[in-house]
Amino acid sequence: MIKTEYYKDLTKMNTFGMKVKARCFVEYDSVADLVDIEFGDLARPVLHIGGGSNLLFTDDFKGTVLHSKIDFIEILDESHDPQLVQHSDRTSLCHFDPAKRVEKPVLVSVGAGVVFDDFCDWAAKEGLWGVENLSYIPGEVGASAVQNIGAYGVEVKDVICRVYCYDTVEEEFVSFGVEDCRYGYRDSIFKSPEVKGRYVVTHVVFALSRIPQPRLDYGHLADAVKEAQSARASELTPSLIRKVIIRIRKEKLPEPSVMGSAGSFFKNPVIAHEHFERIESAAKAEHGADYKVPHYDLPDGTVKVPAAWMIEQCGWKGRRSGGAAVWDKQPLVIVNHTGEAFPEEIIGLEKRIIASVKQKFGVELHPEVDHI
Ligand code: EPU
Repeated sequence: MIKTEYYKDLTKMNTFGMKVKARCFVEYDSVADLVDIEFGDLARPVLHIGGGSNLLFTDDFKGTVLHSKIDFIEILDESHDPQLVQHSDRTSLCHFDPAKRVEKPVLVSVGAGVVFDDFCDWAAKEGLWGVENLSYIPGEVGASAVQNIGAYGVEVKDVICRVYCYDTVEEEFVSFGVEDCRYGYRDSIFKSPEVKGRYVVTHVVFALSRIPQPRLDYGHLADAVKEAQSARASELTPSLIRKVIIRIRKEKLPEPSVMGSAGSFFKNPVIAHEHFERIESAAKAEHGADYKVPHYDLPDGTVKVPAAWMIEQCGWKGRRSGGAAVWDKQPLVIVNHTGEAFPEEIIGLEKRIIASVKQKFGVELHPEVDHI
């Protein structure tokens, strides 16, 4: 069914809680509905949103906002046939090489409109491994495949097998194998300027597994899981890891239902090794010779430095500016502190943070959040 509304209030459809309206809002709940939507006739621009958890509306939206409510979760195949798995729509084949990625994959097809954490919850209850580290990330499945969401050492691309879409230009259904999606850090082909907005994700096939494959190498995750395991005298299961991840996220990140935000506002910057050495020696001069700057060495010799650390070093942690504030437990997050913040207040804070990080570290921060 397709539902169309005009001058729709979007306050509850963006996790930042910006009080904006869309001139036209179209919601559909089946793959077949997409064929009936006359994309050429929609008020432009057209924006497809998921949970609205990674965007900042800077004003009322003058075009059409589309939203999917396609919400099935279906196990496709447990035969573990490594080469060929017939997909449920019987039209396309999913080539998959488990030797490279997941052992004995269980392929699961999930509608774009499913809340991503509902999928994680379902997978944990089914005893399926693969998405437990991605628990409690706000947003929906379609957007997860566009944004390549990630947390605690896992990115969604690690478990994506194929992304199914409707091509609004050629008006046909197409699919992309994981290699065709050109995944990078919070990036994919679907975000590239050439095709942005062209493909509407209908569903995603994930490769999960019943064989334990815990990914605990991020920070102190392994210790936290071990502690939870002995406290509960429990086995290592996706459910246990999910519980630990949810606890960690709740400790650090604002609760989406209580405080508006879009999660991490900035991407973690990647800099040249020499640049990192300069930052480190300045930090040692400031904090003492034993001081260690948090960082991750990347295989190509560059270094990823947590933007959270830089923002904290610039003194922004917990600071407020009108209705906007920097979250006191994780300064990578800007929040709508009063619930009444204007987009200009969020953007003003963003600009001042970028300027001070640039001045102190010579590093340009880039927002992760899409400005609409
Ligand atoms: N840090 C500080 N001060 C703080 C908080 C963190 O200096 O107040 C430093 C610490 O050194 C810490 C490091 O930053 O070890 C990394 O912090 P954290 O583990 O919280 O991760 P992050 O790099 O800040 C990324 C993702 C998050 C994801 C976490 C956990 C990005 C932009 N963000 O944050 O994703 O939950 O890792 O994996 O990559 C999101 O995308 O919305 C999101 C929340």
